Amino acid sequence: MPKIGIIGGSGVYGVFDPKESIKVHTPYGRPSAPVEIGEINGVEIAFLPRHGKTHDIPPHEVNYRANIWALHELGVERVIGITAVGSLREEYKPGDIVITDQFIDFTKKREYTFYNGPRVAHFSMADPFCPEMRKVFIETSKGLGYDTHEKGTYVCIEGPRFSTRAESMMFRSYAHIIGMTLVPEIVLARELGMCYVNIAAITDYDVWAEKPVDAQEVVRVMKENEEKIRKILQEGVPKIPEERKCGCADVLKTAFV
Ligand code: ADE
Repeated sequence: MPKIGIIGGSGVYGVFDPKESIKVHTPYGRPSAPVEIGEINGVEIAFLPRHGKTHDIPPHEVNYRANIWALHELGVERVIGITAVGSLREEYKPGDIVITDQFIDFTKKREYTFYNGPRVAHFSMADPFCPEMRKVFIETSKGLGYDTHEKGTYVCIEGPRFSTRAESMMFRSYAHIIGMTLVPEIVLARELGMCYVNIAAITDYDVWAEKPVDAQEVVRVMKENEEKIRKILQEGVPKIPEERKCGCADVLKTAFV
């Protein structure tokens, strides 16, 4: 069974031919879609379109718990999350790739944990992203010649609306990129001892830079970015070490009280 899972947009279909589609039932309800199983460059992967097969699930309605649970149930140990993001800094340009290294949570009403009692757990989130996968995708994206940021703090907002100018100015003082889907996806993966990496593709300068964000423009630029994401996955996925030496699962050892 696949040890690598990809959660992302429909653009990912271009890099693999799904051979099987599995409907997974979870204690948390239905995932965004059946999980597609296929290969990227000879490596077996599981793929979940975060917003559903027909892109009809908005960011605040994604069943993040069901998605992560389903991948875990199928044996996935490492999750690659693909996201479209806005830029909060001049030097992070539309079209650039960011291999995120930190996040700040500004979401408001999502299901954030598998541990609502009676089992109580507090997971370290100090370094949220898998160092082994970050290294692979930084090197791959740079090797392909893409403008790549090795670091970036992602502020996750609730959406579905974009930010006000005042919010954008505030976020800009402590983060580099802004999106609506990283949290709680990454948090839930960690709670199950899975590795997580975020490959963020910048679609716009958020509203701090004068022009209001235009959803249609975001979709247009994301389509342009899809080719980059496909190439990064095609080259990067086979370079992910099969055996995990990253320690991402170690957080489980210290979380339970
Ligand atoms: N996704 C893409 N661009 C965004 C922005 N400016 N704000 C929030 N989410 C986004």
